[in-house]
Amino acid sequence: MALLEIRKDEEAILRKTSKEVKVFDERLKTLAEDMIETMHEAQGVGLAAVQVGRLRRLITVDLYDEMGPKVFVNPELYDMEGQILDYEACLSVTDTQAPVFRPEKLRLKAQDLNGAQIELEAEGLFARVLCHEVDHLNGILFTDKAEDESLMEEDK
Ligand code: NI
Repeated sequence: MALLEIRKDEEAILRKTSKEVKVFDERLKTLAEDMIETMHEAQGVGLAAVQVGRLRRLITVDLYDEMGPKVFVNPELYDMEGQILDYEACLSVTDTQAPVFRPEKLRLKAQDLNGAQIELEAEGLFARVLCHEVDHLNGILFTDKAEDESLMEEDK
């Protein structure tokens, strides 16, 4: 296991589109393990491979609950329902928090580290983190979608 360098702010790689994972080998497993370690060290709830300089469609998520850390390869989101506005931050965006609308509920289709299909339903924070990380795979940062902070005040 190794800690990886998290790419930040204006680094051009963060704006690139990640490529589908086609080879499920030991290198992929090592990358996923290193990403989980890096995410934990940075106290993040999610990390996309592009954030550690690998343009692969691979994300890790850990909500620090009973489910433990999760890895999703080639994730796709669908059947989004509802909208919730809440604050987000990102390990690749220094000192910024802003409210972003995300679906209340969605379904995820992905593969595990062996290439087996995964399908699950996510809601609340889990759905939010999945949206945030899948956006990274498409070169999108949460700040692109952030609402004006005054909107958040009106909600309270
Ligand atoms: Ni992020």
